[in-house]
Amino acid sequence: MSALKILVIPGSLRSGSLNARLAAVAAHELAQAGVDVTRISLADFPLPIYDGDLQAKSGVPKHAVNLKRMIGAHHGVLIVTPEYNSSVPALVKNTIDWVSRVQDPHEARGEVFRGRAFAIASASGGRLGGTRALAALRLILSACHATVIPNQLALSFAEDAYDEMDRLRLPADTEALQALVRQLIDLSQRMM
Ligand SMILES: Cc1cc2nc3c(=O)[nH]c(=O)nc-3n(C[C@H](O)[C@H](O)[C@H](O)COP(=O)(O)O)c2cc1C
Repeated sequence: MSALKILVIPGSLRSGSLNARLAAVAAHELAQAGVDVTRISLADFPLPIYDGDLQAKSGVPKHAVNLKRMIGAHHGVLIVTPEYNSSVPALVKNTIDWVSRVQDPHEARGEVFRGRAFAIASASGGRLGGTRALAALRLILSACHATVIPNQLALSFAEDAYDEMDRLRLPADTEALQALVRQLIDLSQRMM
């Protein structure tokens, strides 16, 4: 059997992003578990705000096509999203909107979401850790017919959650992340 491949997508472009740091720790945990991990930055997939006229005129932008194919080359996906005003940032929603419009030959539109396991996590400086963004993201991915694992991680008070090596300071946070990673691996393997 080929190695399990999992794609990790942080939903923030900000330098020092709490979510990019959580994505890095998650990628490390996945690698420790023997997974072939790819961690990307959405800065490498810049997209205009979705506009049906733009799609009709110029088609889906190449960065959305490339990202869709990158997702398709992995068995599972972990999205680590910030929470903006109780929901996902425009960056995350817009990226999913464009990817959901990609239709490769001999494939139904949106098939890339159906065919693999998704996990979601968030980090925020607040007490709820981005729980409301996770609810919104779960809904969006479900609308795309993705299978999202029941477990999720909302890292609260995240500004204080990392040590000087950018590892999670609290054993409980590490355990929660490891449980998430294990569940993503299990489902990804079953969907291979
Ligand atoms: C426009 C905006 C809205 C925000 N709304 C929330 C919110 O609803 N809940 C929350 O916990 N944090 C909120 N925050 C704070 C973010 O969680 C915080 O800036 C976080 O560091 C962003 O993620 P990042 O560090 O990965 O870039 C908001 C920040 C911005 C810029």
